[in-house]
Parts: sequence; structure tokens; C-alpha cells
Amino acid sequence: MKRKPATLAKQHGTPLFIIDHDILRRNYRLFRSRLPRIQAYYAVKANSQQEIVKTLFDAGASFDVASYSEFMQVYRHLRSFRRKDKDFYIWDKIIFANTIKDIATLRKIRRYRPLVTFDNAEEIDKIKAHCDKAGLVLRLKVPDTGSACELSSKFGAEPADAADLIDKAESLGLTVEGLSFHVGSQCTNFDNYIAALNITAEIFHEARSSGRAMNIIDIGGGFPAPYDPTAPRLTRLAKIINAECDRLFPKEVEIIAEPGRFIVATAAMLVTEIIGKASREGKTVYHINDGVYQSFSGVVFDHWTPNFQAFRAGPAEVCSVVGPTCDSFDKITLAAQLPGNLRIGDYLLTENIGAYSIASATNFNGFGPPKVIHINN
Ligand SMILES: Cc1ncc(COP(=O)(O)O)c(C=O)c1O
Repeated sequence: MKRKPATLAKQHGTPLFIIDHDILRRNYRLFRSRLPRIQAYYAVKANSQQEIVKTLFDAGASFDVASYSEFMQVYRHLRSFRRKDKDFYIWDKIIFANTIKDIATLRKIRRYRPLVTFDNAEEIDKIKAHCDKAGLVLRLKVPDTGSACELSSKFGAEPADAADLIDKAESLGLTVEGLSFHVGSQCTNFDNYIAALNITAEIFHEARSSGRAMNIIDIGGGFPAPYDPTAPRLTRLAKIINAECDRLFPKEVEIIAEPGRFIVATAAMLVTEIIGKASREGKTVYHINDGVYQSFSGVVFDHWTPNFQAFRAGPAEVCSVVGPTCDSFDKITLAAQLPGNLRIGDYLLTENIGAYSIASATNFNGFGPPKVIHINN
């Protein structure tokens, strides 16, 4: 980024959410180069800014969508793409990876013949009744211990139920095109991927040997963002995944992934402003103009611990940083290391805030999301 965040904040005001599209492209390229067999379907939910979708689309990404609205956000790019590429097929660009879809959504997406995930028998009946042209991907429940956000308590079929679910779908005339899983978000326990790939391979080969024409393996998201120097790196994880995929799945099997956080977390920073300062129980408390109901929603929904940097020098001490709402829940951190001499009007910088931040921001108390600017777009 050529222009400094404080300069941009002076120009645009605060809170200011700055998205660097060079970093988005770099993260996407890194993902593809480390995992060359795996197409990346960016999980739009991580940050659904249309400009991000466009940049990644132009870079060659495909997309994981969770709702009709996200589906259309991506689909609008496909219209022009389709004219240029005659071999284009919607499954190459979009997977609807929310295992539960309401009936209205199924009816709306039916005409696009989408690829959709499912994980239970009721969903098969719904798909048959309202979206019978869809291709199906069965999501399996896999170990997610040690991931920052565990997903297996809400999603995924028990592996022992997989064969029956596949049989049910096929008996209704639907086709199960493949299998998927998600090891939990910000997965730093790489054994989860090994276990998940092995569980998936067993079901995949069993299904194929009973005549099912399955050809897609979707390894979900979970790829850890390098929030700090101790976070495990993609390069190490990629070696494990590549070796397991080559060992477990023949070359013709199409392997896809749904990275969200890895692509977008490090591509954004936020400049906030101190709007109040108090000493409470012996500790300095900085009140800033963005909080857990807006850009810092990841503190609540994503088990995220934000970092803060000051633009003014001074000896660091343990401070609290809290948001602007008139509500005691709006505490961002009680343990920031910041100078105690900061003043009202000073800026604070938070890096690596691209994922699961503004995507879940609210208007609580009348404080809306921050202004968003896109650099090098
Ligand atoms: C189905 C699905 N795919 C992909 C993702 C993205 O995961 P991550 O951001 O950990 O890469 C999520 C996140 O919740 C998800 O639910």
C-alpha cells in the first residue's frame, strides 16, 4: 500500500476500513501455487464486498456462496464470462455450500442447475421437490478439534450415514457428484485435514465401487491466516494436503477448496479514532469509534483477538479498548499493549481485519459499519 493509513484516515475520516487488492491477489496466487491441484472457491461470507468478489473473479477464483444474495453477487460476473468461454459450466465457478437452504432459495436457484451441498435426508427431499436440477455434494462431519471456530456440531453427516444418504438421493433420481467437509475455521491442527481426507476417501471409494459416478472432493475452508508469526504457515499444510490427495484420490478426481479467511484476513486494516479516555479500576480505557457490533464483530463471532497499534510513541501498558455503543458488552479487548499517553482524536491501527469483520457488522445504537475504501482496485 503506497499511502499510509493515517494519511488515508485524514482524507476519508474514521473509522476507515482499507482493503488492499494487491494482497488479495497475492493470497489467492499463493493458495493456488501451493495447492496446484486444488481450485479455490473463495468463501464469500468471509467478506462479501463486491469489489473483493470482482478482484478474485478476475484473478481466476471460483466461489462458495451461502445464500441467494451471495449467489447473485457472483452470478452477475458469470454473464459476461459465459459469452467469452463456451465451455463454461456454472459448477466450475460456484458451489452453494450451505447445507440447509430454504425452499424459496431452492426454487430461485433451480434454473441455474447449481452444485449444492447437503448433509441430511430432509434436505434431499427438499432439493428433489424444489431444485431437482441441482448436482449434490454430501458434506461429512469430520474432526475439528483445535480450530478457532468449530463447525461440526452444526454441519455434516455422520460418516456412518453417508452410504444411506447417497442411496436415498440417487433413488430419487438426484446425483451425488462428490463429498465435502470443513475442518473448522483457522485450523491450526493439521491432523484434522489428514483425518478428514482419509474419512472422505473411504466413503468416496466405497461409493465408486458400488457404481456411483462421484468425481468431486471439496476440502472446505479452515486454512489458517498468518495473524502472527507463530501461526502455522500454508506451505507446511499444503505439503500435507498435496501428499494425502495424491495418495488417496486418482488424478481425474476434481479437488476443490473453500478458503475464506486465508484469502481476505491479511488484506485489510482498520483505522479507528479515540473518542473517549477514562481510568477505570486503575486501568486506562480507550473508547474508540468502532466496536464489537461493527468491524470488531469477529471478537464475538470469530473468537478473534484484534491487535492495536498507536501512531504516538510512549511506554506500553495494559489498556482496555472498548467500542462506542452505550452497552457494556462492547469491549474489544481488556489487554491491549498501548501507550497510556494517547489523546482524544488519536488514531489506532488494527491489521489483519479482513475476515469475518465488516461482514457481520450491525447498526446497533445507530453506529453503522465503517467507511470502506479499496486500494489498487
Ligand atoms: C461451508 C463453508 N465453507 C468455507 C468457509 C470458510 O472457512 P474459512 O474462512 O475458515 O476458510 C466456511 C466458514 O464458516 C464455511 O462454513
